[in-house]
Amino acid sequence: MTEVSMAKEDVASTGDLVVLKSVNKHFGALHVLQDIDLTIARGEVVVVIGPSGSGKSTLCRTINRLETIDDGSISIDGKPLPHEGKELARLRADVGMVFQSFNLFAHKTVLENVTLGQVKVRRKDRKQAEERARTLLDRVGVGAQADKYPAQLSGGQQQRVAIARALAMEPKVMLFDEPTSALDPEMINEVLEVMQQLARDGMTMIVVTHEMGFARSAANRVVFMADGRIIEQAAPDQFFSNPRSDRAKDFLSKILHH
Ligand SMILES: Nc1ncnc2c1ncn2[C@@H]1O[C@H](COP(=O)(O)OP(=O)(O)OP(=O)(O)O)[C@@H](O)[C@H]1O
Ligand SMILES: [Mg+2]
Repeated sequence: MTEVSMAKEDVASTGDLVVLKSVNKHFGALHVLQDIDLTIARGEVVVVIGPSGSGKSTLCRTINRLETIDDGSISIDGKPLPHEGKELARLRADVGMVFQSFNLFAHKTVLENVTLGQVKVRRKDRKQAEERARTLLDRVGVGAQADKYPAQLSGGQQQRVAIARALAMEPKVMLFDEPTSALDPEMINEVLEVMQQLARDGMTMIVVTHEMGFARSAANRVVFMADGRIIEQAAPDQFFSNPRSDRAKDFLSKILHH
């Protein structure tokens, strides 16, 4: 076992950060999340995979309350998700989210994109917020782009800005929903490397991705979903070499051999 994963276990032992209990959600007649029980420890990196339409994005969106749930409970760091108002804005800051589309503010510079939330939600002094923004932009390798507008950046650069923007809020957990699937192939690695580094630094992460290399090297656990349910979950080595369910076997044979 490497030093990195040892360190991660130490961090993880300090408690559960995200806890979903018996979560159900419908979209009309579609039962999109079915009795989801999922606990994510502090410092843990969980990769969620599964066929299209299995509920992966919906699962992510319920965790920062972009979607409501019908029943069950979700808590972050021991507190149930707030329903509205300032507390909800704070929750959204605690749960950083990076989507497939970069979702940056188009009419603000890169620096402003990473500064704004710190000032508005975290009530930071603007100068300090800008300093932190520059540090984070350097860390994800786009420090030189600070004064440009999002449209002037490549997709990979924009996605790294989106990661810096989420990190600027000092989130407790980061959710990634297919962060590299809209990128040209040559830009995928630069984003995955930033995510790998975050994982090594001990960030708690939930990552929906088709990048199985990332899952193998960065995840502590793979969660496989199909038809709104968690079908199985296991350490990556175990999951990829010995999937137990027919659904997972079938899914892996399709994605690993194309
Ligand atoms: N706002 C919505 N209203 C109605 N149905 C929805 C809504 N959002 C998602 N769905 C449906 O819920 C199911 C799960 O969707 P979801 O986006 O969570 O799947 P996914 O696993 O992320 O799929 P993909 O791999 O294609 O991104 C799908 O059948 C989808 O059509
Ligand atoms: Mg999705």
